[in-house]
Amino acid sequence: MADFSPDMGEIEGVPMLQDICKEWDSIYSFQARDGDVVVASYPKSGTTWMQEIMDLILQDGDVQKSLRAPCFVKVPFLEMAKTSLQLANTMPSPRLLKIHLPVQLVPPSFWEKNTKIVYVARNPKDCMVSYYHFHKMDQTMPDPGPWEHFFLSFLSGKVSWGSWFDHVIGWWKAKGRHQILFIFYEDMIEDPLREIRKVMTFLEKNLSEEVLQRILKHTTFKSMKNNPMANFSVLPTSMFNQSISSFMRKGQVGDWQNYFLVSQNLLFDEEYTKKMESSGLRFRMEL
Ligand code: A3P
Repeated sequence: MADFSPDMGEIEGVPMLQDICKEWDSIYSFQARDGDVVVASYPKSGTTWMQEIMDLILQDGDVQKSLRAPCFVKVPFLEMAKTSLQLANTMPSPRLLKIHLPVQLVPPSFWEKNTKIVYVARNPKDCMVSYYHFHKMDQTMPDPGPWEHFFLSFLSGKVSWGSWFDHVIGWWKAKGRHQILFIFYEDMIEDPLREIRKVMTFLEKNLSEEVLQRILKHTTFKSMKNNPMANFSVLPTSMFNQSISSFMRKGQVGDWQNYFLVSQNLLFDEEYTKKMESSGLRFRMEL
């Protein structure tokens, strides 16, 4: 773990941590298996939340089983580290895997196996604020600099995993061609049970109301914040320094209003309209 470096590189024009670039050949040639299930997202979109929900659905709502290991062990983050790849390769099926890759960089074997993928998307303003705090706390990420600097980096896609706009639009377009369930963070906040049911149906499970209620209870912001298997508190501070900012930070829609200046908001909205207009994809920035 101590070997992680915040240096940046690029894969097919997408900014990516140098550690990922170095391992790219083995990441891209990853072999999916029948029955694999994937959670995909742009960073800070509610991936860990969805991960917990999906794991619990696959474990038929068994909370003890869901507590068997920290989230990053039971759900390997494929592109993050050599150890995650090894973990995924040696894990018995059925596997639940996590990726942040833009759709064009997904290992082709997932498409060949017709893998089911749940993609979580979050409005870009909250995503940006969350990513800013994450950059400060995660010692393996580059220093974000002051907020006004990070704001421009995010807007121009010069951050790890690239442009938020390209990411969400790429996955949105791909959902007609593959088994992709597109879920919005804002919808999860609005009605988590409704979204849990959608995921359950997509995963072809049929869980009782009682089990669904248990999953709901175990995956609230408060439960996850207090759950050492979900809140990353088992990582050393040399990796995640949560005295700077908690991984489970606020878990809200609209927190961006505490950070965006009026001028930044105008600039952002202009760019958002230009980039998103023809995509047919809409986000709610407030509930
Ligand atoms: P904030 O930083 O805005 O609080 P990811 O898992 O993709 O890195 O996303 C992290 C974001 O999801 C953080 O957002 C975190 O607080 C939020 N989150 C995690 N679990 C959540 C939950 N159960 N309910 C609501 N938000 C959650």
